[in-house]
Amino acid sequence: MSDNAKSTDASNATQAAPRGRVTVVGSLNMDLVARAPRLPMPGETLAGHTFAQVPGGKGGNQAVAAARLGAQVAMIGCVGQDANGATLRASLEAEGIDCAALATSEHAPTGVALIIVDDASQNAIVIVAGSNAEVTPASIDAQEAMLARADVIVCQLETPPETVRAALAAGRRLGRTTILNPAPAANALPGDWFALIDYLIPNELEAATLTGMAIATPDDARRAAHALKARGARNVVITLGGQGVFALLDGDVDGKHLPSPKVDAVDTTAAGDTFIGGFAAELARGSAVADAIAFGQRAAAIAVTREGAQPSIPHRAEVTA
Ligand code: RIB
Repeated sequence: MSDNAKSTDASNATQAAPRGRVTVVGSLNMDLVARAPRLPMPGETLAGHTFAQVPGGKGGNQAVAAARLGAQVAMIGCVGQDANGATLRASLEAEGIDCAALATSEHAPTGVALIIVDDASQNAIVIVAGSNAEVTPASIDAQEAMLARADVIVCQLETPPETVRAALAAGRRLGRTTILNPAPAANALPGDWFALIDYLIPNELEAATLTGMAIATPDDARRAAHALKARGARNVVITLGGQGVFALLDGDVDGKHLPSPKVDAVDTTAAGDTFIGGFAAELARGSAVADAIAFGQRAAAIAVTREGAQPSIPHRAEVTA
């Protein structure tokens, strides 16, 4: 069979398969990405290798990941009335994402992220919220019908906390499955949030911030997951980069370390977002939680072999091949 015939088969299979509905409430950033030999020290000027400007933002990345990985996706967010905003909106629309609830701020510029990626494929990121700060609880109230249609609602912490809480509360009230990626995490989560979250998915740094525990190994992640469960989390999935994930699911007493496929990473930006988008897409189509985690891990393992946030996210056919 020719490569063309194979890819037509794969895309027919993707279209024929049942697709769940994922609604993402979150941020959209234009990522300004410099590659450099290493991350600079305070006060240091460092010569970089390359520069690129690519669509990003944890919300946007998770929406694109869920769409490419098989879900029907709607995005609730806000861009600025500027060239970056137009580019981000167009890039979501090109993925088939419903942007009816994507507002345009008349005052704030589109969010940006300054990202440095070093030769060891690690990154450091500074975000400036801009229009992401204008996604308000009122934006959530106005989209109750859209949230009611979702199988899974996904939030992160790059929009105001009161908005995230409103989205999670709406999801709970409407009987939808809710996912919180607590990124970036600056503090412990308010205690009353836990009852609103079905799946809490931090990375190791975020889990450390939420619990006050240092996390370097899967055993550390186990302790942190149990601490989060003790605070009321129903399902905790801690992503550990190249070490895989640690999942402590409802009804599971100990939890499990699930290693990821071994790959040569070139850029880990949006690896966590790809995992979450893939996990959400798979949950939304009715797969078992363990299968959804494994699917997200395979997708993220592909993303880290490519540069950039959204450009690195694979399509479903690549993950299922
Ligand atoms: O998770 C990666 C993302 O974090 C980047 O795309 C950047 O915009 C920041 O939000």
